[in-house]
Amino acid sequence: MSAPTLTPLLEGRRVVLCVGSGGVGKTTVTAALGLAAAERGKRVLCLTIDPAKRLANSLGLSSMTGDEQVVSPELFERVGLRVAGRLSVMMLDTKRTFDELVVRHASSPEARDRILNNRLYQYVSTSLAGTQEYMAMEKLLSVKRDGAYDLIVLDTPPTSNALDFLDAPERLINALDSAAVRWLMQAFEQSGRFSLNLVAKSVAVVLRGIGKLTGGGFLEQMAAFVTDLNDLFGGFRQRATEVSAAFRGPEFAYVLVTTPAPAAIREALFFADRLHEQGMRRDAFVVNRVHKRPRAHPSRDEIEGAVARHQLTLGPSGAERLARALREETELAETDAAELANLDRALVPGQRGAKPIRIEIPALPSDVHDLSTLGGIAKLLCPD
Ligand SMILES: Nc1ncnc2c1ncn2[C@@H]1O[C@H](COP(=O)(O)OP(=O)(O)O)[C@@H](O)[C@H]1O
Ligand SMILES: [Mg+2]
Repeated sequence: MSAPTLTPLLEGRRVVLCVGSGGVGKTTVTAALGLAAAERGKRVLCLTIDPAKRLANSLGLSSMTGDEQVVSPELFERVGLRVAGRLSVMMLDTKRTFDELVVRHASSPEARDRILNNRLYQYVSTSLAGTQEYMAMEKLLSVKRDGAYDLIVLDTPPTSNALDFLDAPERLINALDSAAVRWLMQAFEQSGRFSLNLVAKSVAVVLRGIGKLTGGGFLEQMAAFVTDLNDLFGGFRQRATEVSAAFRGPEFAYVLVTTPAPAAIREALFFADRLHEQGMRRDAFVVNRVHKRPRAHPSRDEIEGAVARHQLTLGPSGAERLARALREETELAETDAAELANLDRALVPGQRGAKPIRIEIPALPSDVHDLSTLGGIAKLLCPD
């Protein structure tokens, strides 16, 4: 049987989403997949919400920013990687993406400025639940449309948020366009300013939906804002539908990233079920930080013998410690193997749709902060 590989995803899809809980290695896998695709001649964008400073440093960048940054081809050459394509990275800037959306969809320059300068907009565009996830989708679709990239690899928020991510368009629209807000608008238009108190009492309902906002002129601002946003809603609503459809379409791939830890696997499986329910594919599971069995299991005597033969200095307690470390390593490997067997049982075909590709990445002795290690992971993900 040939080794499992993610290469077909890189070659056949336009967007790869890496999903998983925090700390499992999503950002690392995102970057490694980007690199693997660039090695295969693709123009790739890795889009992340994670500042991942040390990873950025290893790509020769001082930090990730909201602007596209191309990784210098020289860096690849220096570590012997042949990159025929181009690797770019960009960090999601939620507010800026929302601004661009407003600029694109506002009905007039005046409406655009009113929205952008509204105090509520600051809140909606930065802190409203679901905004970040929705804007990640918007950004994704807008870069996908502009044709500068063959492939986009998206590093999503940790799983608990990633679940929100799937509902983000609906949630954002519900928050902004709820019955309560519409009712408030009507009340406003009909009552003028005289019965503001009455309206204010009902505002609590709205506030619960969009978070706490207090201060003078709030109602007026709210009214103006909602009126202007209504202009956008036509565009918004249509876009939300488009976004939803695209995420279920043939151009998208989903890679679930986990470690062998039971909690991480549980979360990844939970997420896989959610994807399946929502009509999205689960193309692959990447199990990261897997402990491998040490190749040999020497006894203390054997270690001491080898040390003597090679004229190394390792005292008797050193040999004991080494033997213990090997035993521990073996136990970790056995635990991980059992967890992986559990995962495989959970992935039998039929139960959760087609059987996903499963790939293991070993636990490395240190963090992944240089390009050649990243290249090594790329090779494990795409060995062919
Ligand atoms: N296979 C691995 N072996 C050792 N360290 C790893 C491995 N994969 C990732 N790391 C390190 O673990 C940390 C978390 O990885 P990261 O990709 O940032 O996770 P996430 O994005 O899921 O939070 C980083 O410091 C990264 O370098
Ligand atoms: Mg991350």
